[in-house]
Amino acid sequence: MLRCTIFRIMERGFANSKNDMIDLSEWKPEYSVGNTTLDNQHQKLLQLCKHVSQYQCDGTKASIETFHSILSELAFYAERHFELEEDVLRRVWYPRLQEQIQEHDAYREWLTEFLCVAMHGNIDKSTLQNYLEQWWVGHILDSDMQYSCYLKK
Ligand SMILES: [Fe+2]
Repeated sequence: MLRCTIFRIMERGFANSKNDMIDLSEWKPEYSVGNTTLDNQHQKLLQLCKHVSQYQCDGTKASIETFHSILSELAFYAERHFELEEDVLRRVWYPRLQEQIQEHDAYREWLTEFLCVAMHGNIDKSTLQNYLEQWWVGHILDSDMQYSCYLKK
């Protein structure tokens, strides 16, 4: 189960105490941003986060290849999502588009660095899992919720 403590969201008022946990393992209508394709992409990305949390490295070549395959999927689907999201937001003249782009760039930068380290055989699954869970929950429930009213107009 994907369970996350999200301090950034709590700061912005989505949760009330640092003990609050947000569970995105099952998609709920309130997570929708008002665009079916973007919602489907968010669901796919959360599934990939779940794959990371379920991944167990047994040190075999096959296991390491599985991890790299999940990482590649994370990079690929995130890129597709960011491209579409930025395009949709540009079309509705979303005033905070630049903040979204900066957030996307920060994710790209972090994942690229992680991929470089992982390619040299250093697989830090828990760091990746924590970053992904916090980043995607913050992205979907906080940053993206802010533009949902522009898509529903
Ligand atoms: Fe998004």
